[in-house]
Amino acid sequence: MIYLDNSATTQPHPEVLESYKKVADKFFANPSSVHRFGSEVERLLQQTRNQAAEWFGVQPKEVIFTSGGTEGNNMAIKGIALMHQSRGKHLITSQVEHPSVIEAFRAMESLGFDVTYLPVDSEGKVNPQDVSEAMREDTILVSIMSVNNELGTIQPIQEIGGIVNEYPKAFFHVDHVQGLGKIDVSLNKDHIDLCTVSGHKVHGLKGTGALLMKQEVLLFPLLHGGGQEQEKRAGTENLPGSVAFVKALRFLFEDQEKKRNHLNQLRESLWNELQEIEGVFINSPKNGAPHILNFSVPGFKPEVLIHTLSERDIYISTKSACSSKQPDVSAVLKACNVDRERTTSALRVSMSYTNTEEELMTFVQALKASIEQLQVTMGR
Ligand SMILES: Cc1ncc(COP(=O)(O)O)c(C=O)c1O
Repeated sequence: MIYLDNSATTQPHPEVLESYKKVADKFFANPSSVHRFGSEVERLLQQTRNQAAEWFGVQPKEVIFTSGGTEGNNMAIKGIALMHQSRGKHLITSQVEHPSVIEAFRAMESLGFDVTYLPVDSEGKVNPQDVSEAMREDTILVSIMSVNNELGTIQPIQEIGGIVNEYPKAFFHVDHVQGLGKIDVSLNKDHIDLCTVSGHKVHGLKGTGALLMKQEVLLFPLLHGGGQEQEKRAGTENLPGSVAFVKALRFLFEDQEKKRNHLNQLRESLWNELQEIEGVFINSPKNGAPHILNFSVPGFKPEVLIHTLSERDIYISTKSACSSKQPDVSAVLKACNVDRERTTSALRVSMSYTNTEEELMTFVQALKASIEQLQVTMGR
């Protein structure tokens, strides 16, 4: 199997699974229980939080364990909007955010908030000048992703953070789900108030992740109950999941430079190969994140190409799950003003540091063969 859909999810690292199993088996007490066993588990939870905080360069109190990216994004956006609405009801995001951000903002609009969806350039990048111009006295939240999940575009987080920082009433949230381990962001240096990360995109487990939040930030919780996670996220803690997440972080950040260089090399080789194939257009920016490469093969339905590749045990992805009559347009490519042929025929290869050059070359050969095979079938 050649798995190149790592932005959708990654294979859990074997030691991550091992840690989960061990903790779920041996440390199953509820950390809120007052008996000794409960206290032991509570200590392990605190240790896990301390380790997570160390990896992220924040204080332990600034780590709120969640069930992943969707929860973190909803918690940040709805939580800030609802908590601080007396200061203002204007929110800012971009047109190319993940649905867990866009739909959370739409939900806030339905509750009477005013949302600005910033445009992007042809590579999917937000212009900091547009953020400056959109800021108002009643703006309470700006939410911009660090790396786009379809194109791999890296957003100018530090510049945007600097702009938002000039407005004391406004908070800055970053959806860092695709950026984690691939690009650096810093809560302090980049003036980020809230930052979403997810475990299953980095060889951790589904249903794990964290919202990193500066200590002084107050939000209206999505979940009320027993007061866990400093009353910001109630519910009995998923200690085995959090331990597994921290283990995944260890593997992610170990030899990080080497892993990034490897990914950059893979992406460059793939870029060069794809460029040589007639009828293939690369949609990702040249200086994008090291793990994502998006391209279109106009005239071919992406799901047909994906199916053909699947038969060869090679897995990549597409945005479109479309009916034959109504092709699903990628909202991200549409926002980039890419022509319709390309927005309806986009494919995404997303790599992990575990992939090899050999796998990518096998993929390229299979892609060429699939295109030729389909051309024959279509009588071209
Ligand atoms: C940029 C981005 N944000 C948020 C999410 C949602 O994360 P999760 O699957 O952990 O809920 C994803 C998942 O694809 C993503 O790519």
